[in-house]
Amino acid sequence: MQFDPALLKGLRGARHVAILTGAGISADSGIPTFRDKLTGLWEQYDPSELATPAAFKHDGALVWGWYEWRRMMVLRAQPNAAHRAIATLSELVPQLALVTQNVDDLHERAGSPGVLHLHGELARPYCEACRNVYRLPEGIPDLPVGGKRIPPPQCVSCGGRVRPGVVWFGEGLPELTWHAAVTVSSVCDVFIIVGTSALVQPAASLVHKAAAAGALTIQVNPNTTGLEDAVSVSLRGPAGQILPALVQQAWCSPAR
Ligand code: OAD
Repeated sequence: MQFDPALLKGLRGARHVAILTGAGISADSGIPTFRDKLTGLWEQYDPSELATPAAFKHDGALVWGWYEWRRMMVLRAQPNAAHRAIATLSELVPQLALVTQNVDDLHERAGSPGVLHLHGELARPYCEACRNVYRLPEGIPDLPVGGKRIPPPQCVSCGGRVRPGVVWFGEGLPELTWHAAVTVSSVCDVFIIVGTSALVQPAASLVHKAAAAGALTIQVNPNTTGLEDAVSVSLRGPAGQILPALVQQAWCSPAR
């Protein structure tokens, strides 16, 4: 795979790179996306029964057990070449900001520092009453596909009910994280959007903020998303192939 020399030149000159990732970046690690046909989680499970405050109120054990299953999948998974390419890039450019919609920790395990998690983290459940982060037991749960009913644990400080550490439909994003994401998107000179359908707001608006501020915007996705007219360049293919090649050619090869 060989990229356009003009694109590589634009990337090489970047001082401030911002990257927004979605579920597609973890697909090569075996973590299902949400909306891919047949394999996407929301193709098989009803988000209204699993990913809303009302669902947790109605059947907390179903919701907790489903998120424990997802946490188990992440614990068993390994970062892939795309996660590693981003971690490498953070050492090659003056500034790199990494924003993710993902609730896994594969970016961190690949070595990326300071990841901005817009939609929370599976590994950080917290008390719905006092918001204290709950310390999960060590080890990997062993659960069937889709999980099973498990009553949510109790907060050790106040006895309240512990909830998954993710943002649900109908909830706001963590405010400071969101503001940081808007700032980095507005000041970057290159914005790379990877492995997201760009259907969920406000995360999807970040690429438009970057474009409006004059950044070179690049989409990496094996499929079309509707962003094709909004971004400067669309690179079609799996992130695990495109990103390592892009980092290699733009930042690790001598300029031609
Ligand atoms: P989606 O499932 O909506 O989109 C995944 C995207 O990844 C699609 O555009 C795929 O084409 C692409 N894709 C699949 N395999 C890929 C690969 N190997 N490399 C690169 N891209 C690939 O997931 P998100 O856009 O992340 O919210 O979904 C956004 C939010 O919707 C999620 O954070 C989640 C969900 O409801 C919450 O949980 C709050």
